[in-house]
Amino acid sequence: MRSGRLVSATAGAAVLALGLAACGGSGDTGDTSDGSTGGEDMAGGDVEVFTWWAAGSEKAGLDALVGVFEEQHPDFTFVNGAVAGGAGSAAKDLLQSRLQAGDPPDTFQAHAGAELQDYIDAAQIEDVSALYDEFGLTDAFPPDLVDRLTTEDGAIYSVPSNIHRANVVWANPTVLEDAGLDPAAEYADLDAWYEALDAVQESGATALSIATTWTQVHLLETVLLSTLGPEAYTGLWDGSTDWEGPEVTAALEHFERLMGYTNGDRDGLDWPDATQQVIDGDAGFNVMGDWAEAAFQEAGSMAPDDYVYFPVPGTDGEFDFLADSFTMPVGAPNPDGTRAWLDTAGSTEGQEAFNKAKGSIPARTDADTSDFSEYQQTAVEAFASDTIVSSLAHGAATPVATLNAISDATSKFTTGASDLATFQSELAAATM
Ligand code: GAL
Repeated sequence: MRSGRLVSATAGAAVLALGLAACGGSGDTGDTSDGSTGGEDMAGGDVEVFTWWAAGSEKAGLDALVGVFEEQHPDFTFVNGAVAGGAGSAAKDLLQSRLQAGDPPDTFQAHAGAELQDYIDAAQIEDVSALYDEFGLTDAFPPDLVDRLTTEDGAIYSVPSNIHRANVVWANPTVLEDAGLDPAAEYADLDAWYEALDAVQESGATALSIATTWTQVHLLETVLLSTLGPEAYTGLWDGSTDWEGPEVTAALEHFERLMGYTNGDRDGLDWPDATQQVIDGDAGFNVMGDWAEAAFQEAGSMAPDDYVYFPVPGTDGEFDFLADSFTMPVGAPNPDGTRAWLDTAGSTEGQEAFNKAKGSIPARTDADTSDFSEYQQTAVEAFASDTIVSSLAHGAATPVATLNAISDATSKFTTGASDLATFQSELAAATM
C-alpha cells in the first residue's frame, strides 16, 4: 500500500528560499556518457571519504557510490572514514577537531547551505568551481541549487550528491488498521492528525516513534513549518519571524503534544531504530527524512509496497529540503583522489546508483530516475513543483553553532529540564 499524497496538487507553486524550479538542464555531462570525466587518472593512492553513512541503508547508499567510483577511477582506493551517528551527530564534532588539527580527510560530507558556509568562513575547504567547468556540472544541477552553492565572489565549495526531503511521515498500515484507522486517510493539519495518534496509542502501539535529540529537532522543524507556513518558517532563519511571538508558541505547544505520543526509550535510539519500530509494527507513525525510504525498501519484514507515506500534516505542497555535498578540504592529503571522488559524486552514473539506494533523488536534472521507487518518483515531482524551504536539522537553514544551541534547548525541554516558555526564549536566544 502506498500513498501518492506527497505530490502537491499545486503545480507551479511559489518557491521559497531556494527558488528551485523544475528544469531540464543542458545535460552537459563532460567527456563521457556517464557524466564522469572518465579520463586517465594520473595518480592513485588512498582516498579517505568522511561521512556518517556508517551502517544499514545509509552504508548501502555509500557502497553504491563507491562501486561507481571504483569503476570510474580504478587507480584510487576508497578508504571509508565514516563515523556512526545519524545526521552527523558524532561526525561533525570529530571532523572539526581533525580540521583544526590539520588532519583533514580527502573529502567530507557537508550539507549545502548554512552549514557549508561554516567551513568556508573557517577557510577549511577549497573553491572547486574549476571542477564544475571541467566536469560539466554547472548545467547539470538546477540553477538555483548552483546559485545557493555559489558565494558572492563566484566560488563554489562542494559538489552536491543528492536532494533529500525532511517533512515526511512514514506509517505502518497494519498498525493503523488495528487501531481502526483507514491507512489511506489524509490529515489536513496537525489537529486532524491527533485523532489518529490517539487511536494508535489506545491500540497499545507507540503512536509516533522517535529517537535521540537530532530526530526531535527534525520533528520540531516540521512542526514549525506546519504551524507557521513556509514564509514565516523561512523567516525564522532570516530574522523576519519573531521567535518570541504567539505563532511560535502555538508551534511549540504542538511539538509538546506530539512528543507526548512518542516512545519513552527515545533518547537512547537513533533514526534507524525509530523507523524500524514502524517497519516491525510496533509503532504507527514516524516523522523522518526520506533516507527512511531506503530502510523501508531494505526491510525484509515488510513487502516493498506495504507502507504509507505522506507529508507531515499541514505541509502538503512544501518540500523541506537538504542536500548532501562533498568537499575538497584545505590540505587534503590526496587532492587528485579528492578530484576523482568529486567527479564520481557529481556524475550521472554516480548520482543514479547512489540515490536509488539512498532514498533521495539526484541533484542532477539529467539523471534517469525511471527505475527509482514509487516514493522517489513522488519526490522528483514534488521537488519540481512544491515550495522549497531549508531544513534546520540538516544544515541547510542555520550554521552548526545555531543548530547546536537549538538542539541543547530542545533536549532540555524534552527531558523535562525546562518549560515551554524557557524553551521558546532559549530558541530565540539561539537564533539571535
Ligand atoms: C542527514 C543526511 C542524510 C542522512 C541523515 C540521517 O543529515 O543529509 O543523508 O544521512 O542525515 O543520518
